[in-house]
Amino acid sequence: MQAKPHAKILGTGRAVPEKILSNADLEKMVDTSDQWIIERTGIRTRHIAEPGTGVAQLAAAAARNALDDAGLGPQDIDLIIVGTVSGDYKFPATACLVQQQLGIEQAAAFDVSAACSGFLYSLRLGESLLRSGDFRRALIIGGEVLSSQVDWSDRNTCTLFGDGAGAAIIGPSQDESGILALHLQSDGRHAGLLINPGCGSANPPRPDNLHLHAIRMEGREVFRHAVAAMSDGLDRVLGKTGLRLEDIDLLIPHQANLRIIQAVGKKVGMPEDRVYVNVDRFGNTSAASIPMAIDEARRSGRIAPGHLVAAVTFGAGFTWAAGLIRF
Ligand code: UT7
Repeated sequence: MQAKPHAKILGTGRAVPEKILSNADLEKMVDTSDQWIIERTGIRTRHIAEPGTGVAQLAAAAARNALDDAGLGPQDIDLIIVGTVSGDYKFPATACLVQQQLGIEQAAAFDVSAACSGFLYSLRLGESLLRSGDFRRALIIGGEVLSSQVDWSDRNTCTLFGDGAGAAIIGPSQDESGILALHLQSDGRHAGLLINPGCGSANPPRPDNLHLHAIRMEGREVFRHAVAAMSDGLDRVLGKTGLRLEDIDLLIPHQANLRIIQAVGKKVGMPEDRVYVNVDRFGNTSAASIPMAIDEARRSGRIAPGHLVAAVTFGAGFTWAAGLIRF
């Protein structure tokens, strides 16, 4: 018998910048081709923020949509967590900027750095803090402007990433719907395989080292670990709940690469029509990918009340996470 969930998702929202960068645009910037990008990643377009647009603006827009969806206002939120590795500033936290933009007066606000796992890590924290009894409703956001960290002359990475934000409001569950299980894990031995080494305290910005401020990735190694870790994460949340793969209505894998998504689906034995894909339109939006997909799937009817949704993710750190949510 499954334990009744403590918290549930009350509303979701998303936001992406208007500007779309196509593979044809990238062909003019680096030595690449539409065919290579589609065959190796499945990505056709990605949304890119105008220079100077920080994550907070996208995160606040996604949050407004989520509040509308939940029928709630700023006064109903007392906790804000933003999963991001591309926050507006070193400090203050992007969550505090979201609080400012939304006019949320009484709340605790902080960021979580877990790369592509940022949303599920934040959801876990939010759920735990609600469980503590100290907070009533939390705004959980995954948002990135990774275009600000891309080396636009590096074809190994510049085709992959997109900008965006996704938000969810969570509050107490009165019924069987809600967050049934979450599993978080990390392995710091691989910290160097996916990294932006610049502009932190190890390499503070100086005129001669600004080239360090860019995403670097050992793509093949990341790929291999991503498939194994996301599949294992799904097994673990199923194990925690006693639910089976057949019970899942929709699997939402982190949208990094269509081949990774397909490999995870195949490894766990999930039919393709129950695996969500939007990487073709948004590229890899890191922490935003899962909440954007959840919102899109809800609004298009792919997720309906009563559905069991599994989300699995993997990113720099390495960090990975899986969740089971009953809508
Ligand atoms: O969100 C966090 C998690 N991130 C991920 O999950 C990403 C994981 N990795 C990947 O998605 C894939 O490894 C990539 C899409 C990054 C690369 O695909 P791949 O099939 O692993 O290619 P590769 O890195 O092994 O490169 C194959 C070839 C290389 O040429 P040589 O050395 O064989 O001559 C690359 O230089 O493809 C070349 N290449 C490109 N060619 C045209 C790499 N990028 C490009 C490009 N256009 N954009």
